[in-house]
Amino acid sequence: MTVGQTLRTGVIAGLMVCGAALTGVVSAQGQAMTPVARGKYIVDTSGCHDCHSPKKMGANGPEVDLEKILSGFQAETKLPPPPAIPDGGPWAAVVTWDLTAWSGPWGRSYAANLTPDVTTGLGSWSEAMFVSALRTGKHMGSGRPILPPMPWQTIAKLTDPDLAAVFAYLKSLKPVKNLVPAPTPPAK
Ligand code: HEC
Repeated sequence: MTVGQTLRTGVIAGLMVCGAALTGVVSAQGQAMTPVARGKYIVDTSGCHDCHSPKKMGANGPEVDLEKILSGFQAETKLPPPPAIPDGGPWAAVVTWDLTAWSGPWGRSYAANLTPDVTTGLGSWSEAMFVSALRTGKHMGSGRPILPPMPWQTIAKLTDPDLAAVFAYLKSLKPVKNLVPAPTPPAK
């Protein structure tokens, strides 16, 4: 192969990679991905389960409870008050064993129910509300600030088609009725 041919091949390969990144709907095997499949891929690789899926204790430690996938902090869980954290650090926050309830300088926050249940999950949300919530960090796109540790600042960097795909995937989940408590402010 001449230098010219090598360069041309490289440029064409580069363009193909750019094309895949721009459309955002091509799997690693080069096959077209549906928005729901793309959304599942993003959710499964972006840590959403870490905080939003309740866990069961398995032989190798906590594992996602597939029956309640992405349904957030379970409302029936009885929690004692979180252990006190001394002012001045270095420790700053505490979390339950399944990472669905958090306590830190911002108060207590509970991972939201991302299943499409109409009254307790995302069932009544529009795609525009979902995108706005993740882009602006405002509850339901226009309300109170979304609290830590929800990493909306990084999720906000997904493209419009990717955020739409995440929403399409979440809407395709089995609805789980689970009314997650509202956050509470820091104890004075
Ligand atoms: C480190 C833990 C953590 C991770 C990782 C995480 N979340 Fe969250 N998320 C939370 C918590 C906690 C809340 C509740 C915050 C509150 O009540 O203000 C929340 C709230 C939300 C909400 C509701 C926002 C609103 O308007 O009230 C959505 C939607 C959401 N997360 C989507 C996602 C998606 C999608 C992912 C993965 C791409 C993700 N989260 C990853 C912890 C997390």
